[in-house]
This record gives sequence, structure tokens and C-alpha cells, in this order.
Amino acid sequence: MPAEYTYDHWLKSLGLPLYTGFFIEDLRTLELEWWEERQCSTAFVKLMGQEGVCEARITEIPPGKTLPPLKMAVDEIVYVIEGNGLASVWAGDQPRKPFEWQKFSMFMLPRHCWSQLSNMQGDKPARLLHYNFLPMAMTTIPDPEFFINNSHESPERLYGKEEFYSQAKITTEETGIFKLTKPTDVLWSGNFFPDMRAWDKFTPFKGRGAGGSTIFVHFPDSEMDIHMSIFAEGTYKKGHRHGPGRVIVIPAGEGYSIMWEEGKEKVVVPWHEASMFVPPGNWFHQHFNVGTDPARYLALRPPLQFSGYEGEKVKDRKRDQIEYPDEEPWIRQKFEEELASRGLKSAMPQIAYEDPAYEWDYQAAKAGG
Ligand SMILES: [Fe+2]
Repeated sequence: MPAEYTYDHWLKSLGLPLYTGFFIEDLRTLELEWWEERQCSTAFVKLMGQEGVCEARITEIPPGKTLPPLKMAVDEIVYVIEGNGLASVWAGDQPRKPFEWQKFSMFMLPRHCWSQLSNMQGDKPARLLHYNFLPMAMTTIPDPEFFINNSHESPERLYGKEEFYSQAKITTEETGIFKLTKPTDVLWSGNFFPDMRAWDKFTPFKGRGAGGSTIFVHFPDSEMDIHMSIFAEGTYKKGHRHGPGRVIVIPAGEGYSIMWEEGKEKVVVPWHEASMFVPPGNWFHQHFNVGTDPARYLALRPPLQFSGYEGEKVKDRKRDQIEYPDEEPWIRQKFEEELASRGLKSAMPQIAYEDPAYEWDYQAAKAGG
């Protein structure tokens, strides 16, 4: 019987839809219900692997409307599923910081600051995915009202020496809790990313296969971070496992992921733009691109306590990652069948199935992978 935390009791008290299970195939069409207090339609998503760790909330702003101001005591990442609009963020009696967002934008709403979101289109709703650590925060301080619109304001971070929503940049020195472990490590730092679907500055993520490349992002003065990976059509990544709480949302591509607890039945998760899933803690999972273009997935990550200190790195490569030559033959067979049903062929080189140390040629790879 899974535990029910303070956060879960709070959710129940709101009486809004709560989706559970392994995945949501399309966040664009997920049914929401009106939340009078916030003046928007909302649903919460608590997939297996999110419990007690992170909140995923889908909101829809009616056409042309502006939501009431909101101030949370935790940082929140927002990813735009549909539409475009305006955000305005402020603290104390300081000037508001407005910026425009569009479909596929990602931005940070800083703790202890007011924010107000508007839908700039008069004829269509705008839909957002919000991600935060409220479940953990409410375990530490089991008073839900403490986290919403309390009287504390903290302008220092928003009005620091760097413009808060300026263009993201590469971090070359250690910042906060995020450490660079190798000279080749690249960490991006910023609070506003205009288009995660168009982002093209990736670095090779060797060791996980498929010629895949990744971007790691941290949000300054926050313990929140994300990564996004891209991998080519006709390829698939290596099965691996790690801790819980990573909410994966798909900006582009068509494929599926397989998730399984060691020795147990496998779950197949089909995905495309706006699909969401969470690999449960310590379940193996493996991503397959069966589309005609590179696929990308955005992983909104749990507190570092759950993921180790080096991003997607598994603790013990032999125990926690399955090299291609060691995988069940069914994995490759299903992949080739899925491609064939779409009139496509695998782009996996034969040598990848023979040499566990095989690495893709990242120089020649197109679209970063
Ligand atoms: Fe993973």
C-alpha cells in the first residue's frame, strides 16, 4: 500500500482530476476541470515514480485571460504545451519583469516571488505543464497553506546583478550544488528557454548509445535542473535504471519506451509530441525512435538526492545499464518490427550488437546525434 503524504491529502481536498499510471499519451487533450481559486482548468498527474517526490500539474488558461497573481514558496519549472502568452514576475514593490512565452518555451518561476500568466491569444486556450517539489516540501513542512501566497517575499534573486530572464549561457565554473566533473562537461545556466523543440546546442552523451546528445540545464540559485536528449531516427538507446521522479515530456519525435522492473513484466509507453511518462524508481527503461526525424525528450529532474550527482550517470554501469550485445533479442526484434510496420528500417549498426564498447561517430552524426 503506497503511503499517502501531506501533499496527497492536500490534492484530495482540492477535488481536481488526478491521473495516475505509467504515462499520459497526450497532455494536449488530457481532460481538466475548472479550479475556481486559480481561474484556470487544471489536472494533476502523479505517475508511478513521482509519489512523494515531485508535482506535475497541467493548467489551461482560457483565451485572452490573465490568471490571478500567485506566489509559491517553492521554485517551479513551466513548460508550454500549447499556445503563447505573457508572464509577469515580481517581488516587493519592485518593477514587474514581463516576458513572452510560446509553445515549447520553458521557464522558471522563482520561489517567494509573485507571478501572473496571461494567454495572449483571444481564440485559443494555452496549456502549460508545471513541475515542482511540493510533495517533498510538504513532507518537511506539513502545512499546505504555507506554500501558497504566504506573506514572505524575496526579491534578491529576481533583481540580482544578472538579468533574471536573460539568454541562457554555458556555465564554466561550479555554481551552487551542480558540479562539473570533467573539463568537457557542459552545463547551461538560465531561467528562460524560448523553444526547447528548436534548441540545437547539444553535447554528445557517450555511453548511452544511439549516438545521442544531451543538454544539461540548471536554474541559477535553485536546486532544480533538467536535461534534454536527442537521438536519431531508426535508433534506440541502451536500457538503464536510476532513481525516481523524472517527468519526461516529448517536444518532438515519434517512438516508444519500454520500462520494467528487473525480472518483471514490461510496460510499453508509446510517445509523440506532448506525451509524458515517468520511469519508476530503479526500473529499467529504454527509448526507441521509430519516426522519420530525430526525437527529443525533456526530463524534468527530481532533487539531486534521488539522481546522484552526475546527471543520467548510472551508479554501476554493469548492474544498471544493459549494453546492446547483452539485451534480450526481443528488444531488437520488436524495434525492427515497429519500423517495418511504418515502412522504415533500423539505422542501428550491426557492430553495436557485437562490441559493447562501440561508439557512434559523433563528428559525422547529423542533428547532434
Ligand atoms: Fe533514464
